[in-house]
Amino acid sequence: MLIETFDNEEALASALAERLIDAVTRSPRLVLGLPTGRTPIALYRELRRRTREGRIDWSDVHTFNLDEFVGLGGHDAGSYRAYMQAELFDHIGLDAAHIEMLDGRAADLALECERYERAIAGLGGIDIQVLGIGANGHIGFNEPADGLHARTHVATLLPGTRDANAALFGGDPARVPERALSMGMGTILSARHVVLVATGAEKRDAVAGMVHGLVTPTLPASFLQVHPRVTVMLDRVAAARL
Ligand code: GLP
Repeated sequence: MLIETFDNEEALASALAERLIDAVTRSPRLVLGLPTGRTPIALYRELRRRTREGRIDWSDVHTFNLDEFVGLGGHDAGSYRAYMQAELFDHIGLDAAHIEMLDGRAADLALECERYERAIAGLGGIDIQVLGIGANGHIGFNEPADGLHARTHVATLLPGTRDANAALFGGDPARVPERALSMGMGTILSARHVVLVATGAEKRDAVAGMVHGLVTPTLPASFLQVHPRVTVMLDRVAAARL
């Protein structure tokens, strides 16, 4: 793991935006894995700004998001699809046909998970997977457990994770769906390069466990230790226990 610490989340977001844009410039057909949550908001703001000012061509890039709530689609305000449209997709000129998200309203969720795996494989896999981390060490919605799913699956969310997502649902954790679709650990670990971003004090312990602890399903992000190319980008506060 390559660990990088930045003075604040703006500096981090700026560095990562620059690298992603460099990667798109070098490889216009880049396949990008994208996260949601509070952490990537600064990154998406920076990508919007740089795209506006620099005429970056995203039209051949493909994206795959990590996860989506079961029962929600693009027209639901709390969905990750709605978040992605508002934060990034509506602003940078991606081809709508190149944007892949799990459909939380699919009639057959198992089939939807299989479709997603096939779509990723069909494009030759993910080149750069950007990830956040839950305060409990989850990545995507791979929650701490005795065992983890290798592939895209239906995940049951832990109470703390529903609390952490309440802001998308008017602050009410009870309105956060109990289940989500998520890439699995193997899906994530198959990306050629993984970039994990963490900011803020509530991520300190998860980050320390991920970097220095045992590889354990009780801290799913610790599995990134076995990946050959992981970059961990932290602000000083999230890096405090390293
Ligand atoms: C959410 C998402 C994750 C995200 C993580 C951290 O529940 N499913 O993909 O990385 O938890 O979120 P945040 O950045 O808001 O702390």
